[in-house]
Amino acid sequence: MCGIMGYIGDRETTKVILEGLAKHEYRGYDSAGIAVIKDGKISELRTTGRVFQLAEKVAAEHFTGDFGIGHTRWATHGGVTENNAHPHMSSDNNVVLVHNGIIENAREIRAELEAQGIKFHTETDTESAVQYLGWVYNGDPKEAIVKLTRRIRGAFALVIMFRDRNNEIWVARKGSPLVVGHAGNEGFCASDPTALLEFTRDVWFMDDDEMARITKEDCIFFDFEGREHEKKSMHLDWDAAMTSRGKYPHFMLKEIHEQPDVVAHSLLGRVANGEVDLSHELSWTAEQIAGWKKIHFVACGTSHYATIVAAHIMETLGNFEIRTEVASEYRYRNIPIGPDTLAIFVSQSGETADTLHAARLAKAKGAKCLVITNVRSSTIHREVGDALITPAGPEIGVAATKTFTAQITVLTLLGMYLAKMRGELSPETEKRLTTALMDIPSKLASILTQEKAIEQTARNFADARGFFFIGRGLAYPPALEGALKLKEISYLHAEAYPAGEMKHGPIALLDKELPVVALVPQGELWEKTISNIEESMARKSPIIAIATEGDSEISHYSENVIYTPKTEPELFPFIAVVPLQLFAYYVARQRGCDIDMPRNLAKSVTVE
Ligand code: F6R
Repeated sequence: MCGIMGYIGDRETTKVILEGLAKHEYRGYDSAGIAVIKDGKISELRTTGRVFQLAEKVAAEHFTGDFGIGHTRWATHGGVTENNAHPHMSSDNNVVLVHNGIIENAREIRAELEAQGIKFHTETDTESAVQYLGWVYNGDPKEAIVKLTRRIRGAFALVIMFRDRNNEIWVARKGSPLVVGHAGNEGFCASDPTALLEFTRDVWFMDDDEMARITKEDCIFFDFEGREHEKKSMHLDWDAAMTSRGKYPHFMLKEIHEQPDVVAHSLLGRVANGEVDLSHELSWTAEQIAGWKKIHFVACGTSHYATIVAAHIMETLGNFEIRTEVASEYRYRNIPIGPDTLAIFVSQSGETADTLHAARLAKAKGAKCLVITNVRSSTIHREVGDALITPAGPEIGVAATKTFTAQITVLTLLGMYLAKMRGELSPETEKRLTTALMDIPSKLASILTQEKAIEQTARNFADARGFFFIGRGLAYPPALEGALKLKEISYLHAEAYPAGEMKHGPIALLDKELPVVALVPQGELWEKTISNIEESMARKSPIIAIATEGDSEISHYSENVIYTPKTEPELFPFIAVVPLQLFAYYVARQRGCDIDMPRNLAKSVTVE
């Protein structure tokens, strides 16, 4: 949440910062701002709205500087106003900064400084940090930042400039992501490494309680006591082309179309000759695995739904004792966690605060922890250590799509691997599922060829009052994900229920304006789901069915059928989710919504 960017070097400062902010916009897009230092003076420009509006202002005012910092905001403290937009400046105009995170004791600091006669100008928590810095600064930035980090509580990634330091940007991190890069005579910092890809792929991920001084010449790292230390850089395996929209009108559509490749990449090196093998990524022995009696899946949002898919699949593979928990709840309940627990944290970004805190708790209680993330070297990866990477490439659309299919691919392999190592996976099941998994990319590609028909169905229903999504067994988790996609990007109310649960209450809502999206694959639960469809039809709800190719009966129940290719029953979620993503996309498009940046959301949720 919130994206920050800093640049020092010989290029046009505002251009680099604005381009960097545009890449961060999915992290927040309530307002944007930029500050530069030129000829020993700080100037800033801010606006509500998007980065392109800031760029227009920058151009109109010929705003330029020698080096600078920028911010795109997802409001936490203080309304969406120009005044609350970052950067924020100290009252003496000596210090300016941008911030991602929350300063929890901001009120207390503000009261203390106001008592000293310092005037505050905004409603933000961030202003307390910059005013404090202005107050303690006496020409030594490092010393002032050390004092600040001792005084503030909460989470922060801070990028700071001091008016009288004409070749220095300072950064400090605790709890919010921050990455630093240096190439030739240029220094950069950003919330997200994708913003640095076109400049350098060798970066330093800042750790908690760490700060750095970035100059044209170098980057020097310190701890929060001000002691200098060496830091190893990491090489990013993404490239800049991956962050462009290409021929697609939206990142979300591009990312939906990438899914056949993403699944194929996720299988690569993990499946061969009908067998699954993760031993090169997880150096776990059969004895260790046998010692983990409980498996906890912990995640948020779409990643949580991916874990529900995984739990359902694993239950079919072996005798697992599994819990799936929302990370923000896991921490605050008294769930038994210990050395007999394998706790698996799933996070696309690897920066989600709730998941990160839950992982810290499980680690502290002695659980074996594993992370499944799309971002190598993300905070959660670095902290947990053991990891399986989803090789989906950068996901820019705020609504997760390709990372969900990558997650369920990797989770399915993990479930198979654990069952195999426990002696519970028969060679026949292993062969059957690996063969079916290898076929998933071509099946997803065939669903994508139905895009036009799905678009038409979406158009027909774009004015609905809301939607129910129903499914049984393995059709239920993709129903959850389909409903989440729809509500996130179209702002229509959508709820998913196990189909059999509708009659216990939600059915009261049904009428002709509330369509039901029924996931009804052929198999043992087909008839039961059809009964639930009949119950909905009896209340005049239009039915949109996601059914299996060759299902000749389904047309009796719905005029709006999206047919999916046959696959093994366990893998239905892979096949079901893609039409639901397309459906949500085209409903949102028909409704004129801002698909890649839906209101109120941010991609990387770094606050609790
Ligand atoms: C939904 C979505 C969110 C994220 C959730 C967790 O489209 O993107 O629900 O899935 O915020 O994010 P990660 O996976 O980065 O931890």
